[in-house]
Amino acid sequence: MKPLIEFVGVDVSYGTEIVLHDITFRVDQPEFVAIVGPNGAGKTTLLKTSLGIIKPLKGTVTVLGENVMEKPWKIRRMVGYVPQRERFDYTMPALVKDIVLMGRALRRKVGEPLRKADYRAAEWALRKVGLMDLWNEPFSHLSGGQQQRVFIARALAAEPRLLLLDEPFSGVDIESQEIIVKVLKEYKSKGVGVLVVVHDLNPLLEVVDKILLLNRRILAFGKPAEIVESSLLSKTFQRPVKVLQAGGVYFILGADSHA
Ligand SMILES: Nc1ncnc2c1ncn2[C@@H]1O[C@H](COP(=O)(O)OP(=O)(O)OP(=O)(O)O)[C@@H](O)[C@H]1O
Ligand SMILES: [Mg+2]
Repeated sequence: MKPLIEFVGVDVSYGTEIVLHDITFRVDQPEFVAIVGPNGAGKTTLLKTSLGIIKPLKGTVTVLGENVMEKPWKIRRMVGYVPQRERFDYTMPALVKDIVLMGRALRRKVGEPLRKADYRAAEWALRKVGLMDLWNEPFSHLSGGQQQRVFIARALAAEPRLLLLDEPFSGVDIESQEIIVKVLKEYKSKGVGVLVVVHDLNPLLEVVDKILLLNRRILAFGKPAEIVESSLLSKTFQRPVKVLQAGGVYFILGADSHA
């Protein structure tokens, strides 16, 4: 079986600054992988490199056996991407349905009209995230959590084999968070691979198969039990805080670094 995603010796730079060093990892099964690391660790860059949006300085990236730099259109059809919310344009003058339908347009050739099946898939995806009644609403009227769910519906509408989500819970209300977790669990059980960047692993602890700790390099990649250490810090904070330790660096989960 072809690996779902594979990085081999990947370096990525912006200008002269190398932000990802020698990234090598491989996900064979459609697993649920949480990517964790401090601000500026290169998490968003890693997702964009997986999509072929950013060209590595060296190394190769393949998704389901396709080199992402060689077959970008194929990758965009197989991979659903939900960008980091701080970077959306909240005032986008579009209706909710237009955004979800974009997920279908990606599957068509440029200029090819959408078909009935595309509308059905978009409606189905919006229903999945519990927002079908907002189909005709302007996107800018929605709350942060609802906007995030619309972007998830856009990714789902494309019937992806791999989902990449960049901090899907940041700035999101608890109801939206619960719906997103439920949808991700369902996709995992359908055999869709999920790579999700999170600051707080707690909402996903039962679904995560592997954790990738990143700080410009991979500090650890493995099953949660191999990586997560309990700590006195939980007592100190008087709430559950998980501590991950790798390469001499401690990551405290449960404290949102964007707060
Ligand atoms: N387009 C860009 N041009 C120049 N530098 C960039 C660009 N995008 C990101 N960087 C820099 O690369 C580094 C990694 O950025 P990246 O956005 O991948 O980190 P991140 O782990 O997603 O951080 P955050 O937790 O804040 O989202 C940061 O130092 C950032 O300032
Ligand atoms: Mg980021």
